[in-house]
Amino acid sequence: MKINNFDMDLFLADYWQKKPLVVRNAFSEPFWLDPDDLAGLSLEADAESRIISQEENVWKVEHGPFDESTYSRLPEKNWTLLVQAVDQWVPQLQQLMSGFNFLPSWRLDDVMVSYAPVGGTVSQHFDFFDVFLIQGEGSRKWQIGGVCDSSSELLPDTAVQILKDFEPALEFVLQPGDMLYIPAKHSHLGVSVQDSLTYSIGFRAPSIRDMVDGIATKALESLTEDERYMDSTESLSALTGEISEATLNEVQEMLTRKLLNRSAISSWLGQYVTERKYPDLELGSAEDAVCLERLSEEAFVYRHAASRYAYTNECGCTLFVDGQSYKVDLVLAELLSNNASIDSTVLLDAINDASDRKVVEVLFQNGALTFDDGCDE
Ligand code: SIN
Ligand code: CO
Repeated sequence: MKINNFDMDLFLADYWQKKPLVVRNAFSEPFWLDPDDLAGLSLEADAESRIISQEENVWKVEHGPFDESTYSRLPEKNWTLLVQAVDQWVPQLQQLMSGFNFLPSWRLDDVMVSYAPVGGTVSQHFDFFDVFLIQGEGSRKWQIGGVCDSSSELLPDTAVQILKDFEPALEFVLQPGDMLYIPAKHSHLGVSVQDSLTYSIGFRAPSIRDMVDGIATKALESLTEDERYMDSTESLSALTGEISEATLNEVQEMLTRKLLNRSAISSWLGQYVTERKYPDLELGSAEDAVCLERLSEEAFVYRHAASRYAYTNECGCTLFVDGQSYKVDLVLAELLSNNASIDSTVLLDAINDASDRKVVEVLFQNGALTFDDGCDE
């Protein structure tokens, strides 16, 4: 799906991760879901949902799964239902997400959908994610303020994270089909003007903190007490109380060698960014496990909507799926990582040898590949 009125090159050069942008009529058919569908999802045990409401400055957060009675007791105004990872439950959203293929797919976190009657808001806040907000039904007023960080002051003792200071510098009222891009850490406030459905396409960036943690943990798996600092002639020539420049250089060099090993970084990053959002959720498709023969039957093969794929092509090709890594032929890795659905005969052609075949088999067994598009209900 193409985003209308949108110059991708200009966006990437001037706006992405820099400044907000509103795109009017970005999507001409933004009515993939209706509020009842979203409320229905919030009754599901496995879907992550919240209702944020506010009455006379008292904020309340309730977590799903909800039941029918939840919706009959809610007031007419001033609440928001938010459901995470709707793309995993509504594979049709793949079409909408394909509009963002100009960004690496492994950067996409999820599509959160919110519904808010008039006055509904989650208050002024910032996110660590870059987000594209697409207006479905109704309309919502968005205000955008300054750039925040983890030290920005929040209101004390509130159930919702609310920025203490918020000075709007920009204001947009989104109508159905409009899109607003808000870079990470930019404060914002959205208030429903007319009963409003909003799609938030969130892109996550691994924090350096997570990277250091992950890479160090990985390195620790193979490091033992045996490997130690050793004095060089230069460091021994320092004054007795001095930690010399030569010593620091050596320690830096040892750490660089042990921690910043390129293949360890690539394997950690690939596994980390393809970790599923809800790893404990069974994808389940046991019957597909024995179905590889079907590839020659001109069926369609689908990646599970909850599965995450990426690959690297350095020192041989590695395919990453749902936090696991597999050595495969580049053609197969590209095909699987770049397409949410694949003609089965094309997939068959891309299987180069017995080891590629084994990987495809494992992906079917794990439910990361399936013959079912998940859209049949
Ligand atoms: C919402 O959809 O109500 C909130 C989205 C956001 O501000 O991150
Ligand atoms: Co936000």
